[in-house]
Amino acid sequence: MLEAVSPEPEAEAREIYFHLGLNLLDPLPEGLDPWLSELVQRRRRGEPLAYILGHRAFLDLDLEVTPAVLIPRPETEVLALVALERARRWPAPEVADVGTGSGALALYLARHHPAARIVATDLSAEALRVARRNARRLGIAGVHWVQADLLSGFGTATLHLVVSNPPYVSEAEYANLPRELHHEPRGALVAGRRGTELQEALLRQALRVLRPGGLILLELAPFQAARLREKARSLGYRRVHIHPDLSGRPRVLEAWR
Ligand SMILES: C[S@@+](CC[C@H](N)C(=O)[O-])C[C@H]1O[C@@H](n2cnc3c(N)ncnc32)[C@H](O)[C@@H]1O
Repeated sequence: MLEAVSPEPEAEAREIYFHLGLNLLDPLPEGLDPWLSELVQRRRRGEPLAYILGHRAFLDLDLEVTPAVLIPRPETEVLALVALERARRWPAPEVADVGTGSGALALYLARHHPAARIVATDLSAEALRVARRNARRLGIAGVHWVQADLLSGFGTATLHLVVSNPPYVSEAEYANLPRELHHEPRGALVAGRRGTELQEALLRQALRVLRPGGLILLELAPFQAARLREKARSLGYRRVHIHPDLSGRPRVLEAWR
């Protein structure tokens, strides 16, 4: 059934089994037919599986997702892993996760570095409600959820680490994205005419809020790497490095103040 509606029917079948608490070799329980046909109908209309099931795995977190938040992506897991490794340099770092969405990055850092003091921001009040529910359900304390525009509201030289997966799609790219992506919030994807507007604004703003010796980690699209590396250097960041994702494409900018 999924082959007719999904580009990745096997992966989606696995996800459905996981959702039902079954092993792949288990037979499907009786009585699921109406539920499965409705699921296939919704997939046929392009609705992402994660919204239909209401959750998505992110590293070791099972996160609630609704159409108010971006569905967490595997490339962001690379950002989370690098961020945790860097955050562990300090016993109790002050951290900002800008544009937290479902709370993926903030919650991963809080679970694995409980002494970190984390503020997670988003422009969207509805996204923050989802993130707070995720924190409660997963029993993760220690994240402060704040509705704010980028890094406004943070004091000068207060943060050790800024981490962000901001919107980075240009308006023109958005128009050509696959239909399925149009089910996700436009405000979670589109940054402006160029696509790099919010990443560049974060690089500028982070210079004010980072302590000397602090760093910013930003997700980017592979073709944006050269421009953003140059931008970080020209703003005066000391060390600038780009991390690849699991398929070797440049995906995360690291810049030290
Ligand atoms: C690409 S999503 C990332 C969500 C989550 N961090 C993740 O990686 O799955 C970007 C998020 O940034 C938020 N956002 C957009 N513009 C923003 C701004 N100016 N200030 C703060 N958050 C913003 C969106 O609402 C959205 O939740």
